[in-house]
Amino acid sequence: MTGRVLVTGAAGFIASHLVDALLKGGYEVIGVDSLRTGMKSNLSSAMNDDRFQFLEEDICHPELPLRVRGEIDLFFHLAAISSVRMSVENPQEVNRVNVGGTVNALDVASRLGARRFVLASSAAVYGDPEVLPVDETAPLEPLSPYAASKAAAEMYCQAFSATHGLEYTILRYFNVYGPRQAFSEYSGVVSIFISNALHGQPLSIEGDGKQTRSFIHVKDVVRSTILAAEVDQAAGQIINISGTESISINDLASAVRGLAKEHSPQIAHVDPRQGDVRDSIGKMERAKALLGFAPEVPFSEGINDTVQWFRSLL
Ligand SMILES: NC(=O)c1ccc[n+]([C@@H]2O[C@H](COP(=O)([O-])OP(=O)(O)OC[C@H]3O[C@@H](n4cnc5c(N)ncnc54)[C@H](O)[C@@H]3O)[C@@H](O)[C@H]2O)c1
Repeated sequence: MTGRVLVTGAAGFIASHLVDALLKGGYEVIGVDSLRTGMKSNLSSAMNDDRFQFLEEDICHPELPLRVRGEIDLFFHLAAISSVRMSVENPQEVNRVNVGGTVNALDVASRLGARRFVLASSAAVYGDPEVLPVDETAPLEPLSPYAASKAAAEMYCQAFSATHGLEYTILRYFNVYGPRQAFSEYSGVVSIFISNALHGQPLSIEGDGKQTRSFIHVKDVVRSTILAAEVDQAAGQIINISGTESISINDLASAVRGLAKEHSPQIAHVDPRQGDVRDSIGKMERAKALLGFAPEVPFSEGINDTVQWFRSLL
């Protein structure tokens, strides 16, 4: 494929893999990131490619279109503060970046003539759904400011389509994991568990550990995201991007402990987290029908691959 595409949050976990895949697929890529949590090292391979340009910029900056210069074909919006916990602690800032940043991104995309705007939304918008696997017609019931910010971002995509004719596809990612996922107290559970295990620290399970997630490997997520931009019938659609295996947090902890057994990590139980959902798995029929997409990386293989990557950082 050819064309000039823009990726926000480019130095982050998922978007840096997306940048690599887009370059490999033949696109010219502009990556925008404020480096709030993202790291330039995630873009080390892209930085060596002449078809990649990096702009260190806040997604809310009003002069972003001037810095991008020239038309773009596709706009992938992944920049966000992607932490439920941070959103409980600082909802104003999460609203500024996730909602205000999306409005600015939509404005930039329509001003620069983008053919399609792909939004990285989240399964968090469903809250604790009554029926599982949840499908895309389920009501939006955000349980955290983060979830509310993603629901608002989705609404703005629909509004810009109505007012500016900007075509969009909304992807509701479930729990994504894989190499380059950041590890801090605000990160996803997979990277926290692996990082702790490899440092011989305990794996803290919040609550009883019977809560389940449908982890999906970043390789699969990237493939679905490119299809969302390229496939005609994905226009104006909201699509779940979920793993197909329901894994409990207890099972995840055991798997990670097994893969890092030389460090003898212990498992500890702590209080449940505010705003956390109990079970999460998405129906994938729509992704299959519209994108011809189904996840391919089995959890056992993906978790092994992820532990190996974290090991390479030691
Ligand atoms: N990882 C998951 O499991 C998951 C699940 C559902 C949805 N998502 C969504 O997917 C997207 C990517 O998530 P991720 O896990 O790669 O997160 P990430 O934190 O690794 O990436 C987000 C990137 O956005 C950048 N950013 C933050 N504020 C910015 C700003 N004001 N201006 C410019 N850049 C800014 C960060 O520096 C970071 O590089 C996010 O929108 C997230 O909400 C992720």
